[in-house]
Amino acid sequence: MPSSPAVPISTPYHRFPPDFRWGAAAASYQIEGAVAQDGRGESIWDEFCRRPGAVVNGESGRVACDHYNRWAADLDMMQALGLQSYRLSVAWPRILPEGTGRINERGLDFYDRLIDGLLARGIAPAITCYHWDLPLALHQRGGWQERWIVDAFAEYCGVLARRLGDRVDDWFTLNEPWVAWMLGYDSGMHAPGLKLAPKPLRQVGHHMLMAHGAGVRALRAGAPRPIRVGMVNNCNVPLPMTEDEGDVAALRTHFRESNGWLLDPIFFGSYPTKEWNDLGANVPDVREGDMELIAAPTDFFGLNVYCSNQVVRAGGEVLSYEPWYPRTDMTWPVTPDVLYWGPRLLAEVYGIKCIYITENGAAYPDQVGPSGRVDDHARVNYLQQYLRSAHRAVAEGWPLKGYYVWSLMDNFEWSYGYGKRFGIVHINYETLERTPKASAHWYSRVIRNGGF
Ligand code: FCB
Repeated sequence: MPSSPAVPISTPYHRFPPDFRWGAAAASYQIEGAVAQDGRGESIWDEFCRRPGAVVNGESGRVACDHYNRWAADLDMMQALGLQSYRLSVAWPRILPEGTGRINERGLDFYDRLIDGLLARGIAPAITCYHWDLPLALHQRGGWQERWIVDAFAEYCGVLARRLGDRVDDWFTLNEPWVAWMLGYDSGMHAPGLKLAPKPLRQVGHHMLMAHGAGVRALRAGAPRPIRVGMVNNCNVPLPMTEDEGDVAALRTHFRESNGWLLDPIFFGSYPTKEWNDLGANVPDVREGDMELIAAPTDFFGLNVYCSNQVVRAGGEVLSYEPWYPRTDMTWPVTPDVLYWGPRLLAEVYGIKCIYITENGAAYPDQVGPSGRVDDHARVNYLQQYLRSAHRAVAEGWPLKGYYVWSLMDNFEWSYGYGKRFGIVHINYETLERTPKASAHWYSRVIRNGGF
């Protein structure tokens, strides 16, 4: 018989503040399907998916989860799970099939119904205006490479704010401009699959930053009442080797250096001097007023973070994770501490006062078991570990105000197609049946209990 412990074992309970926001996230092209329904125009992703070899198995978002037609049942499911907020994105080509000009009312009606449906179920919508589905018609005229794209994006944001701004409090301009920029225009792994030379590449990044600022202004101007606006980005979140001050100081420096090109303009109104000088003739064309536009004041920042890829040591040495380090199905290392260090670094280095984790989660090759259940213990374990770190951030007073799991359901994972399952709800892609996984039930309890 084991003897009972001499001291009582405490049960740490990770209690979050009552106003901490619990949600789930998804994006239009990844779940909606219905690509030719109700007057939707084509996006760069429709075209990219048709290119041989661009997406695993030649898959596309043509049907995806058919959320466009099954939205009501999906919202019921979200309500049953107790979600407090849902981060969705609007498909620009559903609203403006040519990208600018003619408004497609039927596209707007869809989001109108969705928003009303969310509110009726007590779920707060948070809208991302651009989650990578650029209208193809705009791309064919040069798209993000052209300066006029900034006005086109502002026009689109204005349409959304006028129609939905009376009911939607929280808005995000762009999702992960870094990924849209680098994977879309440098590596060519994402739509539109370009590999630009350094100078035009920097110009694309500059236009995305400008579009963010113009979007902030257009959303505020279009909404009939005050709304909250910010950007979502996937920052590089390195971790310190230890929490000794030397390692942490080096971490702050590395964080600033590796995220500065996108974050300095937004929060400090200028590009980082060293990188700017290093670029020489390849710097983007920046005109008067651009930097002021980019630095338009925001209300919050959305951090998408799945893993750290680097460990930093005093003196600035940067290490990477060993090949045998525990990883998810994306081969991304499991590094829970990013949910502590991400918010802390954003607050310390950029002075950000309100941060949401707008995406975090894990892909695993989940299977439906003989009982019909999906027992995704690996994901439950992942979420537990990451949320412990989020809890530490909140407990220490860093301004982390909410968490959105990626993703509500399995979906079209861009160039990986349907092979990578991130959902807390399983999708059978033959029948489109939805099955909440063990992680969904676990998350639901966390929300109801305000912690775990
Ligand atoms: C992010 C994207 C999101 C999803 C996750 C796994 O980069 O914003 O759409 O693909 O990664």
